[in-house]
Amino acid sequence: MTKKKILIARAIFPDILAGLEQQFDVESNQIDEIFSPEVLLEKVRGKDAVMVTSSESISAALIAASPQLKAICNIAVGYNNIALDAATQAGILVTNTPDVLNQTTADFGWALLMAAARRVTESEHWLRAGHWKKWSYDGFLGADLHGSTLGVIGMGRIGQAIARRSMGFDMKVVYHNRSRLTPELEVRANHAQYLSKEDVLRQADHVVLVLPYSAATHHTIAAAELALMKPSAILVNIARGGIVDDVALIEALREQRIAGAGLDVFEGEPAFNPGFLALSNVVLTPHIASASAPTRRAMTYCAAGNLIAALAGQSPPNCLNPQVTSKG
Ligand code: GLV
Repeated sequence: MTKKKILIARAIFPDILAGLEQQFDVESNQIDEIFSPEVLLEKVRGKDAVMVTSSESISAALIAASPQLKAICNIAVGYNNIALDAATQAGILVTNTPDVLNQTTADFGWALLMAAARRVTESEHWLRAGHWKKWSYDGFLGADLHGSTLGVIGMGRIGQAIARRSMGFDMKVVYHNRSRLTPELEVRANHAQYLSKEDVLRQADHVVLVLPYSAATHHTIAAAELALMKPSAILVNIARGGIVDDVALIEALREQRIAGAGLDVFEGEPAFNPGFLALSNVVLTPHIASASAPTRRAMTYCAAGNLIAALAGQSPPNCLNPQVTSKG
C-alpha cells in the first residue's frame, strides 16, 4: 500500500520524526528553513496532512490550493495561524496541542512576572557590564508580589494554573474572561473574583495576559487600557503578539506610566519593535513559554498522535472542528 504523504514544516525531535517516517512518506525540514508563503503552498500541495507550528500561516488561499489535504496539525495550543473556517468548509481536520503545556506555560508566566517585578534581567545586564562596585540600600528596588493582587485576563486552563500558583504568595486574584468560571473553578483558582476588563486593570497590582488571539482580541491592551493600570504595575504577555498594542506599551514603559513588563510574544514576531530594546523596564524572551524539554516533546507527540488518528480515519483527540468527518 502506498504511504500517505505528509509535510512536517519545521524541524522536530529526530526520534519523533523517525517514528512518523515508518508510517508515512514524509517531507521534513530538519534544517528548519522558514518557508515563504509561496514555498509553503507548493510544499503542502499534494500532501495528505501537514504538521506546522504557530510560525506557519495556513491561509484560506493555501487551503483552496490543496484539495488533497485532510489534516492540519498545529504544534501549539493557539491556532490563530490557521484559517479554521476555510479548513472546516473544505472538510479538513484541524488539531492543536492543549493541556500538555498548561503547567509549563503557567510557570513561565510567573518567571516573567517575577523577573520584571524584581528587575532580574536588568540587574544582571548591569552586573555583567562591570558596574557593580558596591552594595547600596536602593539598588534595583522592585515591587513585591507577595500579598499583592494578581489580575488575569484570559482565564482558560493556563490562566487558572497561573492563578492557582498565587496561593503560595498570599495573593488575591481578579480576572476577566469571555465567560465567567463556575464557582468551583473560581475557588480552585485562588478564589478568583470575576470583574470587567477595566476593573481588573484598575484593581490589579500586576496583570498577566493569557487569552487567545483573534480579530476580537486584537489590541485588548492599548493606550486606553494601559492608562487604567497602576503606575507600579507589571504587565505580562505570554499569549500572542497583537493582543497588546506594542507602540502604546513602549510609550507607557518609556514614560513610566506602568512600572514594567514581561513579554514573550510580539506583534510581527520574530521581528519586534526596536523601541523595546531601549527600555530597561521590560523583560524580553523569544516566545519560549512552553519551552521546557518535556513539554516541547509532549506537544510534538500530541501533534503526531493527532495526525496519525486523522489519517487513520479516526477523530483526532484534539480536533478543533469535530463537525468535519475524517477522510482518512
Ligand atoms: C504557543 O504559543 C502555543 O500556542 O502553544
